[in-house]
Amino acid sequence: MKFELIKPAYDADALAPVISRQTIELHHGKHLQGYVNNLNNLIQETEFENADLETIVKKSDGTVFNNAGQVLNHNLYFTQFSPDGCRQPSGKLSAAIDAVWGSFENFQKEFENAGVSLFGAGWVWLAEDENGKLSIVKEANAGNPLTKGLKPLLGFDVWEHAYYIDYQNRRADHLKELWKIIDWKVVEKRY
Ligand SMILES: [Fe+2]
Repeated sequence: MKFELIKPAYDADALAPVISRQTIELHHGKHLQGYVNNLNNLIQETEFENADLETIVKKSDGTVFNNAGQVLNHNLYFTQFSPDGCRQPSGKLSAAIDAVWGSFENFQKEFENAGVSLFGAGWVWLAEDENGKLSIVKEANAGNPLTKGLKPLLGFDVWEHAYYIDYQNRRADHLKELWKIIDWKVVEKRY
């Protein structure tokens, strides 16, 4: 097995009530594990057998891309949360957010709107270009800003498996709640 299921630094019930233990166990333990298993099987004896995840996401398509993208996306997703993290960006990331959206509050509103208006399954990303300029990027299905030459910093999963147990069809409520468990120190390290 080349790729392994990442192990978050928090317990399965540590993010409740924003994300319940049941959702973590299903989303991380079943959905992500499934993507990891599929990817490991798919790349055997192919050009991607010894490639790293980012390279596979940039160069593959079809089923390999879908599973590699979802492994990368969920690795970024599950490691950006913390039960007791820093809830506001600071330093140069905070300044870069203000430069584009005017304020952190306005950025949050725009980010939530992007997630609510994404039709079907996908992801909303905060991404940076090679000059450090930030943007909000909507991606369908397993998409990641890497394929557009951008670096993903923060990602909200808007697949129904991310919120349906806890919020049913109320995607907007779920996205609003996620800010309470984002650890901006983790996001700042990616910037
Ligand atoms: Fe997901």
